[in-house]
Amino acid sequence: MKPPKTVFACQECGSQSPKWLGRCPDCGAWNSFVEERTPEAPPASAGRYVAPAGGGATLYADIASSSAARITTGIDEFDRVLGGGIVPGSLVLLGGEPGIGKSTLLLQTAAHIARATGPVLYSSGEESEHQVKSRGERLGVGDAPLYLLAETCLERVLEEMARLRPALVIVDSIQTVFSLKMQSAPGSIGQVREAATQLLFAAKAQNVPTFLVGHVTKEGSLAGPKALEHIVDTVLYFEGERQHSHRIVRAAKNRFGAVSELGVFEMTATGLKPVPNPSAMFLAERPADSPGSAVLCCIEGTRPILVEVQALVSTSAYGYAKRTAVGLDQTRLSLLLAVMEKRAGLALGGDDVYVNLAGGISVDEPAVDLAVVAAVASSFRNRPIAQGTAVFGEVGLAGEVRATAQAARRVREAEQMGFSRCIMPAANIDPKDPGFAGTACELIGVKSVQEALEHLLA
Ligand code: TYD
Ligand code: MG
Repeated sequence: MKPPKTVFACQECGSQSPKWLGRCPDCGAWNSFVEERTPEAPPASAGRYVAPAGGGATLYADIASSSAARITTGIDEFDRVLGGGIVPGSLVLLGGEPGIGKSTLLLQTAAHIARATGPVLYSSGEESEHQVKSRGERLGVGDAPLYLLAETCLERVLEEMARLRPALVIVDSIQTVFSLKMQSAPGSIGQVREAATQLLFAAKAQNVPTFLVGHVTKEGSLAGPKALEHIVDTVLYFEGERQHSHRIVRAAKNRFGAVSELGVFEMTATGLKPVPNPSAMFLAERPADSPGSAVLCCIEGTRPILVEVQALVSTSAYGYAKRTAVGLDQTRLSLLLAVMEKRAGLALGGDDVYVNLAGGISVDEPAVDLAVVAAVASSFRNRPIAQGTAVFGEVGLAGEVRATAQAARRVREAEQMGFSRCIMPAANIDPKDPGFAGTACELIGVKSVQEALEHLLA
């Protein structure tokens, strides 16, 4: 008898090798290869092509366009991240650190859909039925037709799915599920990929939307990330810290909506509640008249949000200056500090610089640049930025301030939040733009970092 065929798969990226390797040649991870048995090869005839009964390809024009109604989750911030509700037959991955609120959010969604649309199957490999029930009592699930299945065997989940014909399936978590077809351990990349693929087929074939919960490894990526991200339609991540009461859910990939769209929630005694005005929440604890604080108008997904950028510049105690960025790219910060030093004459070389976006949000759009410059300069000169001033704009290496997208929407948001002055790229100010018509905000267009600082720290 032939020995069973084994392969070694990298648990970080899914790369395979016939031999064990100490370091993955694809992603560079150390000691990440695990032995996996491949399923028995099917008999030779099984691989032969069989023409489908319904004929081959369909003419594009003959395909009926289906704009299937989306299913609302009952939580409007969650609908927003999904791109306007759940698309029937879609497979959604929800990732995040342990204890951040994945199970809570999905149980709330399950309860709403069970009440409003039809039965829901909640398969939990992590908690017993009693544990889910006691949480559900707090969340007010009531007598909605919600079916709990404490099961880790994928085939059992698929069986129940076919039997119950639910309106929604939740698998909590994909790392605890194993398929009988694979011999490797649950949570290994082979199992995770196999389970996700089979659930994808089931979701598409039965047109049942399916949510998968995914754990995030300590490096911050979903375990088996690359293997899963291209299988599913939508990838959502919980951001922020467990210590805060609010939570941010962000779309990292979405076939049915805008990426980097975010939903803001607050964790309460009765589950996650949507935060209707995120700008107000992010600015709530902003100190008045304190140096090193600037307000940024950023666009996250499709929505403008005001965020406080905080900076602290202090004399370095060690031989080399330390630079720390929380919520934005570290390299971007170094680049901006170099621009400030060279183009605006701020001697920051010997100082430690810490920059933080308040409220645990992270922003990676270029409009954050000018707000970072403003906050750092304000702390460096120890002069507060005037109250009621909001800032946005991209900064180039020559110290020039470049235009950003959707300037008028940013100004509107600032105005709504009671800001009276916007320091923004000069190229964005177009008197003919109807977006700016009738704004009560004073718009100050700047062309360079130096010019911006003259207005900010005047
Ligand atoms: P949970 O959804 O279990 O996290 P995950 O599934 O991502 O691991 O979240 C658990 C945390 O949320 C836990 O610390 C308790 C808290 N929590 C509340 O504050 N209020 C609630 O109503 C619920 C259900 C949980
Ligand atoms: Mg959980």
